[in-house]
Amino acid sequence: MADTPRQLSLATRSIHADDSINTYQDVAPAMHVSTTFRYSRNPEDLHPWTEEMPELAPGTFIYSRESAPNTTRFETLLSSLLGNAPVLTYASGLAAFHAMLVHLNPRRVAIGGGYHGCHGVLSVLHKLNGLTQLTLSPSDLDQLQPGDVIHIETPLNPTGEARNLEFYHDIAKTKNCFLTVDATFAPPPLLDPFAFGVDIVMHSGTKYFGGHSDMLSGVLAVRPERAAEWIPSLKFERLVLGGVMGSLEGWLGVRSLRTLELRVTRQSENAQRLVDWLVSEKQSGQGVVPQLVDGVAHASQQPEAREEGSWLRRQMPNGYGPVFALYMKTEEAARRLPSKVHLFHHATSLGGVESLIEWRAMSDRTCDRRLLRVSVGVEGWEDLRDDLLQGLEALEAEQK
Ligand SMILES: Cc1ncc(COP(=O)(O)O)c(C=O)c1O
Repeated sequence: MADTPRQLSLATRSIHADDSINTYQDVAPAMHVSTTFRYSRNPEDLHPWTEEMPELAPGTFIYSRESAPNTTRFETLLSSLLGNAPVLTYASGLAAFHAMLVHLNPRRVAIGGGYHGCHGVLSVLHKLNGLTQLTLSPSDLDQLQPGDVIHIETPLNPTGEARNLEFYHDIAKTKNCFLTVDATFAPPPLLDPFAFGVDIVMHSGTKYFGGHSDMLSGVLAVRPERAAEWIPSLKFERLVLGGVMGSLEGWLGVRSLRTLELRVTRQSENAQRLVDWLVSEKQSGQGVVPQLVDGVAHASQQPEAREEGSWLRRQMPNGYGPVFALYMKTEEAARRLPSKVHLFHHATSLGGVESLIEWRAMSDRTCDRRLLRVSVGVEGWEDLRDDLLQGLEALEAEQK
């Protein structure tokens, strides 16, 4: 039996998956700012626009609302990192979520908690076409009809807790619905949603793909079996709705993806160490952590994380993600702790190399006011632990 050639590792693909479209001598990508591109000077190559959107030859471009060199390079890399699924990028994560729903055009969307902005998109669509928003409760899932959507965010914003994709895939299959996943909190190598039957994987590329808190982007990756049918219509709709990502973001995105695996692995390991430390401090009943912190939420704290062979272990074999939440005992403690730490910026968003902490009530009115969301960066984890500890101690001293 002939050996199947070994696939290049994720780390290698994030450096080389765009080599074949690099037609320049530059090792680092050039930045292309042009919005428009010259047509061929050979009249034989010129074909009028027909009903169908013309397929562009690789390396050729017309207008940057359709495609552009830096964006195409970013999409080529992403496609290799997301299971060779065709990828389209958008101006932001929410623009990608909107584009996905415009394309699938469901009557009903079943969605759990998670990022409140996605619920905002659904309310806009409700205004436009009466789309019904359902929850993931058994009675709501029962109402789904063929062509509707089950949208799962995993792990969830802001708690970092995971949801079982196999479970929702079975329901989507029985109901003849589409299963879409917002995997922003678990980029490669943490989760491969296509291994669990998902139709479209969405990411806020602003987070881990960008990784440096300096670009907005949204990503849709389409299950390869669906691509021939879906990609042309998604491309057409992106062209006419105009929610494209800028070329600078494409350039920054390529720069960022080179280190995706290094960053995400380190961030997830750092988060796990901090969660383990907080939980063991809490269990000890000694010191400042149990006095001020009511609980810690993270996928690693779900009971299935301790069960050999559980859905959670199968779904996230490489770590439980870099975001977790602290429930403080009081709202006041949650408001004050971010001002006591020095290595965590008090800011919204997540996924950058720097650690952030956010009193989530500042940007999500639906959130428990005692909740602090922590997005762990690539710093030394002991420094982060010591910073949290001194912050908690300072807060406790203030309360005396
Ligand atoms: C899980 C999740 N999905 C989507 C988004 C929206 O992404 P963007 O801010 O890039 O529009 C966010 C933003 O925080 C998010 O956390």
